[in-house]
Amino acid sequence: MGTKGSQTLFIGRRIVRLDRVDSTNSFLNGMAATGALSEGAVVIAAEQYAGKGQRGASWYAEPGANITLSVLLTPTFLSVKEQFRISEAVAVTTAETLAEFLPDSDIQIKWPNDILINGKKSGGILIENSFKGAVWMQSIAGIGINVNQLEFPGDLNTATSMAKVSGEKYVFDEVMEVLFGKLEAAYLTLRAGKSDEIRSRYFQRLYRYNKSAVYTDFKSVFTATLHDVSSEGRLVLMLETGEERQFDVKEVGFI
Ligand code: BTN
Repeated sequence: MGTKGSQTLFIGRRIVRLDRVDSTNSFLNGMAATGALSEGAVVIAAEQYAGKGQRGASWYAEPGANITLSVLLTPTFLSVKEQFRISEAVAVTTAETLAEFLPDSDIQIKWPNDILINGKKSGGILIENSFKGAVWMQSIAGIGINVNQLEFPGDLNTATSMAKVSGEKYVFDEVMEVLFGKLEAAYLTLRAGKSDEIRSRYFQRLYRYNKSAVYTDFKSVFTATLHDVSSEGRLVLMLETGEERQFDVKEVGFI
């Protein structure tokens, strides 16, 4: 199997393969600015020396052992307020890809879009959007999947990879082929106006959904139930008092 025989219409039809780059998101953004790329173009790098994570963090992945790629999307059919739809679609399809390769593992999404295998972080997503006024111009969907890395120094056992869980080694092109097929199907579902379908798949895999657990708003620690994720992507927690509170990514921590 390989991406050459890919069944997709646009996602992954063009793949730019790099040995080393600062960040595939930044590189793809630069290439897209020249107008040289069409929707679905992918940049993948064996090594990122300045990989970007969420909340301004950096993303380190052992060179050659993991998938670090970015996909160019132009979701002009969605309004600016519907940004989280893309985030959901990318998270769901990344999680479902892992589930296909690891049928015996528990694959979950930790809000907003961390990917967990058996409760441990094994992938991350960074979506960078650009707008022109009220029009959504472009979305760079950056996806990092821990594939064949076996050691996670300094992570205190909170990270894992596909290979670490199963004992197998994976071929990146095979993982990508599944990922691109699922991502394209989900994207077309969104384009057909059926975002509720993707949303329900997101909730099916959402870590702590409807469960009581401990959180912090960085002023206090409290117990709450993950009740919902708003259509704008805010985390909705139901406190023990019955009060509902909403949080943006930087406003809440999972304990
Ligand atoms: C996170 O913090 O969980 C998000 C990590 C996103 C990492 C991916 S790797 C490919 C793409 N390029 C980047 O610089 N970041 C994303």
